[in-house]
Amino acid sequence: MDSKLIAPSVLAADFANLQRDVEMINESEADWFHIDIMDGVFVPNISFGMPVLRDIVKHAKKTIDVHLMIVEPDRYIKTFADLGSDILTVHYEACTHLHRTLQAIKAEGMKAGVAINPHTNVSLLEDTIKDIDLVCVMSVNPGFGGQSFIENTYKKVKQLKEIITKNNASTRIEIDGGVTDKNAKKLIDAGADVLVAGSFVFKSDDPKQTIRNLKNSIL
Ligand code: DX5
Ligand code: ZN
Repeated sequence: MDSKLIAPSVLAADFANLQRDVEMINESEADWFHIDIMDGVFVPNISFGMPVLRDIVKHAKKTIDVHLMIVEPDRYIKTFADLGSDILTVHYEACTHLHRTLQAIKAEGMKAGVAINPHTNVSLLEDTIKDIDLVCVMSVNPGFGGQSFIENTYKKVKQLKEIITKNNASTRIEIDGGVTDKNAKKLIDAGADVLVAGSFVFKSDDPKQTIRNLKNSIL
């Protein structure tokens, strides 16, 4: 997998100026929109839901990467497909029948992603790796933006990359949480393909320039 991607997390946008921030991402060198959906049950926070995603999709001109931090994600697969999600990521820890969930996501025409919490060992994905388009390695505990990066992530990325290579799979590795210019290159060198960045982009003085710098740093 050669092209390395940046996915700004809309969770860190200014929701009172959401269209402005969506247009900023459109005009930037970002590759995907990362959309965090939280239910207040799987994670101790509630972000936003379908009506907000619908309006984001209306203006967004890039791939819509939806990260579901919810219990029973199967109930909403069709809804998120209809809303225009290109990639739908569910949590390993929220799925009793992960293989079935992955097939259901693909049957709706989306790419299937699996997110793993910091405590979840990557080896648990070995038996489904060929069915997974994207593994989202959580580098913070999910639920909030602006947390510090967990250093153990590098080791997980390397182990996951080995599993992908060994199985001749085309799975991409995404890193989510605490990504900055301090760890971006090191994550790519460890085997990551997609970097999600929320606070680092949106809390900077010039988000578009920050995206450009991040992108250049991982080329
Ligand atoms: C955390 C979310 C992340 C979050 C990242 O639960 O899944 O996508 O928005 O935010 P930063 O980059 O601020 O850690
Ligand atoms: Zn996320």
